[in-house]
Amino acid sequence: MDTLIDMARKARSNAYIPYSKFAVGAALLAKSGRIYTGANIENASYGLTICAERTAIVKAVSEGEREFEAIAIAADTKAPVLPCGACLQVMAEFHIDRVILGNLTEEKEVSLSDLLPHNFTL
Ligand code: THU
Repeated sequence: MDTLIDMARKARSNAYIPYSKFAVGAALLAKSGRIYTGANIENASYGLTICAERTAIVKAVSEGEREFEAIAIAADTKAPVLPCGACLQVMAEFHIDRVILGNLTEEKEVSLSDLLPHNFTL
């Protein structure tokens, strides 16, 4: 059976990346047991690009999920890829505390608080 990081690696195949050619995949495990995958979706207006992590989170939340176990992220990088700051803030909103970072061959688990010790709240 595929692990969460395997699913993130496979999700890269659906990345829409005509500009950067840099494919990112994510796989988000909800407490319901369902897994939501995502890939990055770019736009000619570059700032409208949606990262893989946020694609997966928005898919899950829009299906009614609110509680999560972990998210895995993968890209073809030398060291396991790190999420951008915007994605970390969105992970913080939904308390996605376990973050599995990967490249094509390695993985390592960190906690969201390692990556984002303080986040914006209202
Ligand atoms: N990207 C992600 O999908 N996730 C991140 O956390 C960082 C960056 C994407 C956005 C863009 O399509 C490409 O990587 C290069 O920045």
